Amino acid sequence: LDDLLSEGVRGRRVLVRADLNVPLDGERITDDGRVRASLPTIRALAEAGARVVVTAHLGRPKGEPKPEFSLAPVARRLGELLGAEVAFAADVVGPSAKSTVDGLADGGVALLENVRFDARETSKDDAERGALADELAALVAGDGGPGAFVSDGFGVVHRKQASVYDVAQRLPHYAGGLVLAEVDVLRRLTEDPARPYVVVLGGAKVSDKLGVIANLLTKVDRLVIGGGMAYTFLKAQGHEVGSSLLQEDQLDTVRGFLNTAKERGVELVLPVDVLATTTFAADAEYQVVPADAIPADRMGLDIGPESQKLFASKVADARTVFWNGPMGVFEFEAFAGGTRAVAQALVDGDAFSVVGGGDSAAAVRQLGLPEDGFSHISTGGGASLEFLEGKELPGVAVLED
Ligand code: 3PG
Repeated sequence: LDDLLSEGVRGRRVLVRADLNVPLDGERITDDGRVRASLPTIRALAEAGARVVVTAHLGRPKGEPKPEFSLAPVARRLGELLGAEVAFAADVVGPSAKSTVDGLADGGVALLENVRFDARETSKDDAERGALADELAALVAGDGGPGAFVSDGFGVVHRKQASVYDVAQRLPHYAGGLVLAEVDVLRRLTEDPARPYVVVLGGAKVSDKLGVIANLLTKVDRLVIGGGMAYTFLKAQGHEVGSSLLQEDQLDTVRGFLNTAKERGVELVLPVDVLATTTFAADAEYQVVPADAIPADRMGLDIGPESQKLFASKVADARTVFWNGPMGVFEFEAFAGGTRAVAQALVDGDAFSVVGGGDSAAAVRQLGLPEDGFSHISTGGGASLEFLEGKELPGVAVLED
């Protein structure tokens, strides 16, 4: 971005890919972290006089315009946070997008409608994606010098999609400050982490994290597992997990992880107690039960008090910590204790601490923890996991090209 700014951008049209994929309750944004994270790049370009055209996605509308996936509420929030009007285009590259971009003054900002309303965005066909990328590039061709592309949506750089990947091949392309900062932090974790290096993983499904667990078992000193995925680990150890979330089809893989951890001397830490309920509800009555003896009619919705202490102690002496995924159903206050305890342990410790996006970043804010208590809160959920898995991220590779 600094390179682009030093070239001079006054009057130039600059396409910015941001990740504005925020959780919504109707039209209300329940966590605007990603919108706030997009501000520095947009602001820097606008202040330098560029005509800033932001493209982004919301959810997975499957290639069709659907009102519940409109970015209109996000345009309003972006405008409030920028303290300036954000012109909203009601389509992606159609007449509204063209006239909105044409109407931008120097320093003006526009947001295009959800780019995934156009089926070409996520197409597996290079030519289809390329056609949309051509149209996006054409939007920023024009007066004031050649158009430019700034990739700043870190949360989506693991997707080979038209607005992330193909458009970078068609325009002078630059990494935004957010993408640069995120990649720097994640490289620090993968290349030379200060040890002990501890990773805490949670979330519902172990199947979402297979690749990252396999890779982390070659890198970390300690792997702490909570959340819904812990029950598949407990079952693989031969314990009964009652009606807790269980992925039977992953049991063999998880047994393999348990063996690998043993062979490599990686300490694998699982819950020792859980809050077990008979129903999945915010006000469900719960019992604290040992993690190796969950009654048949009960499901674990959070780690228990002993596990909270255990997990906190496993983070306390770390010099590097990466945490991704809640420890329980933190959306229900009664089952937020485990997630809060892990987050607090990161805040209290002296480690270089990184929160891996998505639900964990939302949990930090929802639970009222100080954001500056962490070294870095990533805006990327899947993207940060794929980075730690050692995969090449297409949206980063295309910038390095
Ligand atoms: C995310 O929420 O992780 C990013 O915005 C990417 O969204 P996607 O998983 O739908 O591609």
